[in-house]
Amino acid sequence: MQTIKFAVLPGDGIGPEVMAMALKVMDHIAGMSGLKLDHTEADVGGIAIDRHGAALPESTLKVCRDHDAILFGSVGGPRWENLPPKEQPERAALLPLRKHFKLYANLRPGLLYPELSEASPLKSARIPKGIDMLCVRELTGGLYFGEPKHTRALDDGDFEAVDTMVYRKSEIERITLVAIEAARRRQGRICSVDKANVLETSVLWRKTVSDLVAERAPELELSHLYVDNAAMQLVRDPNQFDVIVTENMFGDILSDEMGVVCGSLGMLSSASLGSETNGHGKPFGLYEPGGGTAPDIAGKDLANPCAQILSAALMLRFSFDRDDLATRLETAVRETVVSGTRTADIAFGGASVSTGAMTDAILGNLS
Ligand code: IPM
Ligand code: MG
Repeated sequence: MQTIKFAVLPGDGIGPEVMAMALKVMDHIAGMSGLKLDHTEADVGGIAIDRHGAALPESTLKVCRDHDAILFGSVGGPRWENLPPKEQPERAALLPLRKHFKLYANLRPGLLYPELSEASPLKSARIPKGIDMLCVRELTGGLYFGEPKHTRALDDGDFEAVDTMVYRKSEIERITLVAIEAARRRQGRICSVDKANVLETSVLWRKTVSDLVAERAPELELSHLYVDNAAMQLVRDPNQFDVIVTENMFGDILSDEMGVVCGSLGMLSSASLGSETNGHGKPFGLYEPGGGTAPDIAGKDLANPCAQILSAALMLRFSFDRDDLATRLETAVRETVVSGTRTADIAFGGASVSTGAMTDAILGNLS
């Protein structure tokens, strides 16, 4: 019997309630496919600041280390907004987790079912078949982590702040390999996004991606865009993209743009994969919905559980080698939404159901 051993970090806001739904769905999947679930919950984010004095306590890190993957909710909220930037739940929990587990590959699917095209701010005539793309964001390099990084007073009385954008060729190669793998499973097209007309790191980025794709995957179609143009193209015609591969900061910005173009944040899942393998010989990973804590609807049984459930599907696929179960789960979510059972964020003013009822409908479609 395969054991699916994962850490559960619900976090703040709607995190705990959508996490409960994902666990309910995982229980169901386990029951129907003979898996054993072994999961342990730990505090992260604001709730961890309140209870342990740190957004990512050592005890939580240990729980993560002792498991094969992390299913993450969301962190942050108005209660902690006045903390100094470095202590804010988002920065003090997510960034160290990414660094600690070397989660260098962030996969953000941009998927909009044709039936939900009304949810997109784009005119539906532009996206008759919905949207299906993937952003592959480098997650542990670039401006986020480069040294030196500091703010200091200068002798002349002025202040200076420094962030450093730095990339090694090897870091660019490993994220390119992830994009190659993804493009092979998809439509075979990669668009690499950089700012090679200005940045040294981008010149190395462009050359490294070009050389590696030519050497390892000449069958794929590779293109390059400057990031400003990519931002424009994403709203002009998102489906010109299949796989976008880009560095950390550009990926942060473009993936949010992709998210809004795809309609509801409540449908966005993501995977952050590490360079180390777990007990299944697959990448250790962190799986997280894209929508954030949504404090305005937290605790009201209104949140859309789909993003968290789809993130659990990605966990089954990438960290536990169960593409079969991931696909079943994704199909069940899709059928549920398409048949018209929807939470308020995707109901367009029509009838909507609660978080719990949405989950029950998904469970019904799984059986
Ligand atoms: C994201 C978030 C984080 C990031 C923040 C919360 C640190 O915006 O996951 O995209 O910038 O990476
Ligand atoms: Mg972001």
